[in-house]
Amino acid sequence: MSANPRVAEYAIDPQFTQRWSPRAFTGEAIPEQTLLSFFEAARWAPSAYNSQPWRFLYARRDTPNWARYLGLLNEFNRSWAQHASALVIVISKTTFTAPGATEETPALWHTFDTGSAWGHLALQATLSGWHTHGMAGFDQELTRQTLNIPEGYALHAAVAIGKLGDKTTLADYLQAREVPSPRVPLSELVAEGDFSL
Ligand SMILES: Cc1cc2nc3c(=O)[nH]c(=O)nc-3n(C[C@H](O)[C@H](O)[C@H](O)COP(=O)(O)O)c2cc1C
Repeated sequence: MSANPRVAEYAIDPQFTQRWSPRAFTGEAIPEQTLLSFFEAARWAPSAYNSQPWRFLYARRDTPNWARYLGLLNEFNRSWAQHASALVIVISKTTFTAPGATEETPALWHTFDTGSAWGHLALQATLSGWHTHGMAGFDQELTRQTLNIPEGYALHAAVAIGKLGDKTTLADYLQAREVPSPRVPLSELVAEGDFSL
């Protein structure tokens, strides 16, 4: 990519428009310390009652876990994510112990909180010179079985992490999509007062 075509409507830190989701990755190894720093950023996300429901499972390429994780993705995602440096499965705990309570109850905000944590992860990866690509295209039941994820944890997404590669390594139709995407105008997303969107 030569230039980032994204233009913010209001002044924001460039990190927000610099994060995007490529599919061309170099396939280089990621140091475990680097990967852990992305999870560290996720750890500092806000959550209801500070319940911190997010959990992350990962595999680095060229490790025994790599093939197992790749096998969880659908064929389309596997076709490009096989060149990533790490694969992550994002899950969350669906119950928590409220302050003052002794028993666990449903954590109504575990999905909201975990989305926030993944956002931190993605932004930290970009700040560190890496890229992330979230994926809904993976087999949830197979993932639960393969990775021994118990009941009480919800599966959300897979994430590919890597260094930006040459887009000519991708199929033609994917090369055309290898560019930071635009956004709908802020006026379609935000209303002062009553709902009017
Ligand atoms: C939860 C989630 C699931 C996604 N699933 C897929 C997927 O299965 N395959 C894929 O190629 N991209 C997937 N994406 C990438 C989105 O299409 C991408 O984030 C979106 O188009 C915005 O582009 P950007 O991330 O480059 O800003 C997913 C993203 C998220 C957050």
